[in-house]
Amino acid sequence: MSSSHVLASNSVAAGHQTSLNIEPLSDIFGAEISGVDLGQPLAEQSIADIKAAFRDHQLLLFRDQEIPRAAQVRFTGYFGQLEMPINRDYWGKDFPEIHTVSNLDADGNPKAAQALANPGNFFWHTDGSYLKVPPACSLLYAVEIPSSGRNTSFVSTYHAYETLARETQEKLDNLRLVHSWAQSRINSGSRPATEEELQKAPPIPHPLVRTHPDTGRKALYMGNHTSHIEGMDAEESRILLDELLRHATRADVVYEHKWRPRDLVMWDNRCLMHCASTEFDMENERRLLHRTVLSGTVPV
Ligand code: OGA
Ligand code: MN
Repeated sequence: MSSSHVLASNSVAAGHQTSLNIEPLSDIFGAEISGVDLGQPLAEQSIADIKAAFRDHQLLLFRDQEIPRAAQVRFTGYFGQLEMPINRDYWGKDFPEIHTVSNLDADGNPKAAQALANPGNFFWHTDGSYLKVPPACSLLYAVEIPSSGRNTSFVSTYHAYETLARETQEKLDNLRLVHSWAQSRINSGSRPATEEELQKAPPIPHPLVRTHPDTGRKALYMGNHTSHIEGMDAEESRILLDELLRHATRADVVYEHKWRPRDLVMWDNRCLMHCASTEFDMENERRLLHRTVLSGTVPV
């Protein structure tokens, strides 16, 4: 055996070697992966297989996982650079890379106001699109989930673009859409953006049709964190964006994820939009998820 073989087998032995099972979740995108324990360090081959599945399916679901926070940070790091949450919360002291998505207050009690502090999640969006360099991917690990499951819906914006008429695609290809944290707050009816928030995230134009850096496929890049199409009359822009949103989120193209505790879902913000449902008793039931985010690149 050559020394390179020895090295290869040593590196495999260092991680948890698996045989992945990949089941599509819909005809369009999404897959459930089983046969892997994300609580353990993974072998190179498993990481490569998961990366390939992620490129092909854009959203991956892993069920029945025991993932302590350190393991979530390790797993996320296999795919790139972790991004620190902008607002560090009271859970984030030991693991600053992990942000919690939750309706629990600082004493750990359910409070509707806590869940409603960020109502932007209840509208179709792609995470952090109001940033100059928006995050590539987000991962949510379900720790506590209300009895209803409280779904999160996802759509593919590759599919949305690819199912437009050719003339429409051509009309959209060179447009730029202005993303804006301030406008996002207005769109979701929440408190106005603060001066400090505006300084961190001033309005920023991104291509309305972006090309995925790993696949070269084009996707619509839009959602609730936006104001208007550059150089277009405000009313005309609103009508066009509403029409595209209706097209992208038709019921028959939505994958609605019904959460169970110990689910991990990772999704690609560059070619999907998502939207949280409000349907649960936020004042009495507990919901807690651990969120990690991977840095992206400037959309082109
Ligand atoms: C998010 C998000 C939806 C949910 O964490 O980015 O949109 O259902 N979450 O919690
Ligand atoms: Mn989100």
